[in-house]
Amino acid sequence: MTSASNIFYWQRGTGPEQVFGIIGKFPIGIKVKSLVISLLGIKGLLNNQIETHVFFQEHVLYDELKKQQVQNEAWSPFSAGRNNIFTNETLAAIGKKHKKSIAQVCLRWHYQRGVVAIPRSQNKAHMIENLNIFDFELDKKDLQTIASLDLNKTQFPEWT
Ligand SMILES: NC(=O)c1ccc[n+]([C@@H]2O[C@H](COP(=O)([O-])OP(=O)(O)OC[C@H]3O[C@@H](n4cnc5c(N)ncnc54)[C@H](OP(=O)(O)O)[C@@H]3O)[C@@H](O)[C@H]2O)c1
Repeated sequence: MTSASNIFYWQRGTGPEQVFGIIGKFPIGIKVKSLVISLLGIKGLLNNQIETHVFFQEHVLYDELKKQQVQNEAWSPFSAGRNNIFTNETLAAIGKKHKKSIAQVCLRWHYQRGVVAIPRSQNKAHMIENLNIFDFELDKKDLQTIASLDLNKTQFPEWT
């Protein structure tokens, strides 16, 4: 494995097959694939930061990245507050059950999916809250409920 500091940004609108398709078929290790992709001008193959939050769960890309052993990292893990995420009643109910906030439910969901989430906050209390997600677990029903929140579309159409 090469350095995990390489970040590969997924180009929205392209399918996974367009990046991995040809290279993925070669019987070579991920290190070599990473090198090939780097030589093609893409920065690396170990970490891919994509828009991911409860409203845009990106299942196809999620599965593909897993298959390709690429670390999935969320950009806008809270959808930057869009779609009223911090007052969402479904998330609030799950939070109430676990005595956790909506933000903590979201971050725990990312964590249990194996997705790296680095939330933005200018508020110290929020930062502390956001770190406090390792003493509870979302159960199967919670995960199914959160899956139902997926709108399968970006919350940032202006970037498309
Ligand atoms: N690759 C890209 O193109 C791209 C684009 C966007 C973002 N990103 C990445 O995504 C991450 C951040 O995403 P983002 O800036 O779009 O926003 P975000 O992390 O999804 O949401 C930030 C918002 O959540 C609020 N917040 C944070 N913790 C909270 C809490 N515990 N309770 C209530 N509100 C809370 C913040 O307000 P307060 O300040 O009041 O806490 C802020 O308004 C960064 O890692 C960034 O690098 C990448």
